[in-house]
Amino acid sequence: MIGAIMLSTKHFLSIADLSTHELQELIDFSLLVKRKPQRYNRALAGKQLLMLFAKPSLRTRLSFEVGMRQLGGDAIFYPLKDSPLGIKESIEDTAKTSSRFVDAIMARLYAHADLLTLAKNSRVPVINGLTDFSHPCQALADLVTIFERKKRFAGLKLAYFGDGKNNTCHSLLEACAKLGVNMIVAAPKQQEFQPDSGVLDAAKVEAYKNHCLIDVTTDAHFAAANADVLYTDAWMSYHVSTKEHARRRKVLKPYQVNEELLSLARKDATFMHCLPAKRGEEVTSEVIDGPSSLVFDQAENRLYAQKALLIRLLKGR
Ligand code: CP
Ligand code: NVA
Repeated sequence: MIGAIMLSTKHFLSIADLSTHELQELIDFSLLVKRKPQRYNRALAGKQLLMLFAKPSLRTRLSFEVGMRQLGGDAIFYPLKDSPLGIKESIEDTAKTSSRFVDAIMARLYAHADLLTLAKNSRVPVINGLTDFSHPCQALADLVTIFERKKRFAGLKLAYFGDGKNNTCHSLLEACAKLGVNMIVAAPKQQEFQPDSGVLDAAKVEAYKNHCLIDVTTDAHFAAANADVLYTDAWMSYHVSTKEHARRRKVLKPYQVNEELLSLARKDATFMHCLPAKRGEEVTSEVIDGPSSLVFDQAENRLYAQKALLIRLLKGR
């Protein structure tokens, strides 16, 4: 049924805003949309999605744009570089104006607080297409990919390596805790690489309710032991200044996902990365281009997860 189930939240800003039931339902629905695309090819007929981008993108832009078209609607790409949010026009006015024209807004911004202001002032649903703080669309597609491959969540171990103060890592912590997946973050001890303490504490509480564990370590080998999923993200996220690159490369080197680390995981372990990736930094080519890698399945599943999300957010509104 297309319109029968609504999310309890108007917007999709964070995985933490969904209940475990809603998240699992969204994952199941994503896989249904993947299996039966023709069933939904008029689901959003006549609907318009505005896509605001303050940072570059390949996957997010393409998957939202293609997704809207496959659902019978359309998407408008609006790069913010010519009209920076909050400079030429206030974020409040941007939200109030654009939400008079379109049915939903997807925004990729720097500051998470700007996304919250945008959502607060928008008449229509706002989707977080990545901020410096979180990347819930990525985590949703990643959990779809894990469920598709492993057929379960309960009891799995996901080990995340490298930059822990990272948008994808934060959203994965929230998602794993909701779904009963044990997650361990292996990161340097310095505060700048540790996950946000608010996200971490909330994930630990949520994990306790869902019978799994959330943990942080500085020991990459310990984290990799018996893991079902090895996950990493770029050491140089879009918002990291180039002046920081050399220093970060040095500190993060022990957390590179390579064949040695992979050999400590379970035999059927999979490697995941949200992309874009830098071979030779956070991951070696042997691993990302090897048989354990699911990175292009993750990228493809962005399409189905976001089509499912758009239907759940827009249908009936
Ligand atoms: N994973 C992801 O969001 O990729 P893009 O930056 O290409 O959108
Ligand atoms: N952490 C990365 C994710 C890219 C999809 C970044 O923010 O650049």
